[in-house]
Amino acid sequence: MEIRVPTTAARAKVGPMDGFADRSPTFIQLDKPDAQAPRDELLAGLQSRPASIAPKFLYDALGSRLFDAITALEEYYPTRTEAAIVERHGAEIAAACAPGQTLVDLGAGNCAKAAKLFATLKPPRYVAVDIAAAYLRDALERLQRAHPQIEMLGLGVDWSRSLRLPAEAGDGPRTVFFPGSSIGNFSPAAACEFLRSCRAAARGGCLLIGVDLLKPRHILEPAYDDALGVTAAFNLNLLRHVNALIGADFDVRQWRHVARFDATRGCIEMRLAAREDVRVHWAGGERQFLAGEHIHTEDSFKYRRDDFAALLRDAGFRQLHWWTDDREWFAVFVARG
Ligand code: AVJ
Repeated sequence: MEIRVPTTAARAKVGPMDGFADRSPTFIQLDKPDAQAPRDELLAGLQSRPASIAPKFLYDALGSRLFDAITALEEYYPTRTEAAIVERHGAEIAAACAPGQTLVDLGAGNCAKAAKLFATLKPPRYVAVDIAAAYLRDALERLQRAHPQIEMLGLGVDWSRSLRLPAEAGDGPRTVFFPGSSIGNFSPAAACEFLRSCRAAARGGCLLIGVDLLKPRHILEPAYDDALGVTAAFNLNLLRHVNALIGADFDVRQWRHVARFDATRGCIEMRLAAREDVRVHWAGGERQFLAGEHIHTEDSFKYRRDDFAALLRDAGFRQLHWWTDDREWFAVFVARG
């Protein structure tokens, strides 16, 4: 189902210097959030052994706000490290991207990161893509008022499998912005496939992507298991979201947040562990979990800089630029070709 809300750009009222004053974002919901597909996917994951729930289900309205709170935590370094790299090397990054292209923001959330690029990338059109379409709406409407000259499109779409954009996302080369190391949610093999679809979506433009780098366990694990328990709340909130989606009766109090670094796979694994024997019911099914049994909820892969460059080349990119912070905790790449 698609919900299309037209812009008001065609209105005649034009004041001096404010020809775009009435402009408002267009929203297109491509994947209906409560359709049958996520239900089947959730049930399959809940029935498998070990059970799993895909990380995209972390982002209901509350989950998106909890993630925002995570980015403000002392222990969670990725967001501020990436921001510092972009701040420090903004001019070079913009030059590598070629300004003036449509800016496509994957997993846009509150749109704050992309908004900081507007001044240097000068996009005529901004396409914010997120699974949490409702959350996107507020952010984009606020942003449109601040930047009336930019045409804005909000896309509610599950891009976690493959990236395909509707015609409204504009033709010509695009800058595909994929910040925050969200690429880490894919296994390296799936990441390569996804990067290929980003390359196609860029249409000869470029990919601007942030990647979290491998570092010692004593830095990684607290970033995903913070002292205030915000990440625990973020992970546990997944159960509330699943309850809402499939009518399940998960009791959040019966579960515990677990985050550990798997050095062999090079990723942080997030899980929910049953504190006691648990029986969960949903419309048409149920499952028993024994005390200590896990539900896998997220992988967050970390890369060596050269390994990620190799992955970009495997995905078909020919020209690579990268920047990092002094501690080499995080890297920003511009890939094209
Ligand atoms: C949004 C996927 C980049 O993996 O660091 C933060 C999500 N999970 N804390 C990450 C997350 C737990 C985050 N990404």
